Amino acid sequence: MTRSQVIESVYLICAVCFILALKGLSSPKTARTGNLIGAGGMVLAVLATFADKRMAHLPLMIAGIVIGIAVGIPAARQIKMTAMPQMVAIFNGVGGGAAALVGLLEFTQHPDVAVARTLAVILAAVIGGVSFTGSIITFLKLQEIMSGRPIVYPGAKFGNIGLVIAAVVFGVLTASTGSAWWLVALLVVSMLFGVAFVLPVGGADVPVVISLLNAFTGLAVAASGFVLNNVLLIVAGTLVGASGTLLTQLMSKAMGRSIANVLFGAFAGSTMGSTAEVGGDRPVKSSSAEDIGVLLAYSHKVVIVPGYGLAVAQAQHTIHELAGLLESKGVEVSYAIHPVAGRMPGHMNVLLAEANVPYEQLKEMDEINPEFDRTDVALVVGANDVVNPAARDTPSAPIYGMPILDVDHASNVIFLKRSMRPGFAGIENELLFDGKTTLLFGDAKKSLTDLVSAVKSN
Ligand code: TAP
Repeated sequence: MTRSQVIESVYLICAVCFILALKGLSSPKTARTGNLIGAGGMVLAVLATFADKRMAHLPLMIAGIVIGIAVGIPAARQIKMTAMPQMVAIFNGVGGGAAALVGLLEFTQHPDVAVARTLAVILAAVIGGVSFTGSIITFLKLQEIMSGRPIVYPGAKFGNIGLVIAAVVFGVLTASTGSAWWLVALLVVSMLFGVAFVLPVGGADVPVVISLLNAFTGLAVAASGFVLNNVLLIVAGTLVGASGTLLTQLMSKAMGRSIANVLFGAFAGSTMGSTAEVGGDRPVKSSSAEDIGVLLAYSHKVVIVPGYGLAVAQAQHTIHELAGLLESKGVEVSYAIHPVAGRMPGHMNVLLAEANVPYEQLKEMDEINPEFDRTDVALVVGANDVVNPAARDTPSAPIYGMPILDVDHASNVIFLKRSMRPGFAGIENELLFDGKTTLLFGDAKKSLTDLVSAVKSN
């Protein structure tokens, strides 16, 4: 076997590792193993690349890897789970930018490349450029460095059309003249389009765009694989592109929206993302942890509905403790998991897995919804939009059409939240004013700790 055949065989093993990793990541039970398999495949891929005879600039590459490790490991360790989407965004953007640069450099060094490779260079530059700047804007929005609201400037539609036309012209000029300067112009226009494309997306829609940009980066990486003639880059990029596209579709579906509505909704005037207090002076029923503890302890069936606030309060261990205590008193306890509860796909699954909540107790929306009719208490902890009946009943509501957890069918609904502020969608939740609803105001961790004490004393 020649050296290049060995390297190609190792790449094949790496590709299998990536596929197994994706399979593992599709279930909470196997996610950890899937992650390790993927990381193992990546280490193998890097080692195999170093064994390539065509390898040049070794010191520079090692310096790049060392800098990447020095930045990546502390960042990944310190990041709060609620800030994970912006972390994914920035990592993703860097990947897209790298793919665009690879295309540009290859084109500078070998401008007489074949038509198919020139096309791949152009694609890497366009998609990578859009993904790079688009991801930076999503990062700035989620990190609240800039406003999270949709930003639409006058004439935005025409501006975008102009950018697309410019990109087509520069692409044709790049291919016909072989000049790297036209490719640079194309890259600049693509980066501007990345900014223009993400600015009008706001609020709860930003994570969907992150997933879409993730898919873009995958495609840019696959294109750079064609440029470099590297099979593994093509396979890995295509996998990321396909899984990112599927995830984007799943997220939009779970929010009851089309991808077009998510991306272009602001042009039609639909906006989300206000955090102003709503409710005015309307009365709500609130109670003490002691009284709610009695209600919980004497229930037959309690369904816990976790949401973004549980992650903010980091109360996953306390909620598990409360559930265990109730079970020891003979109460049937389960958790209702809405697909877009929290701020990232699988947010609640990851959070509760961290506290060792058994997977069997986590019930998907379709499975748990019929059970609310025979539920004594729906305990809503830091969730709001995912239980808001406006999604069912109010056609003018921005979340109208989003499937929700039918907690209003339970005999009693308890909300644990700090104030009357709305959820991410920024709209009133009529359920807070319903006769069967009781609020326990305060940080979810403190409220749950108080509930644990109250249930213990019953
Ligand atoms: P939200 O509707 O955002 O509501 C969160 C609630 O938690 C708020 O009512 C807030 O009220 C409360 N809260 C915050 N911090 C708290 C704390 N420390 N202690 C107690 N309560 C706290 O959350 P949700 O129901 O999980 O819905 C998720 C939203 O995000 C949906 O609109 C969804 O479309 C959107 N979204 C999700 C995803 C994914 S993939 N998960 C992606 C994009 C968008 P107070 O401030 O009064 O406490």
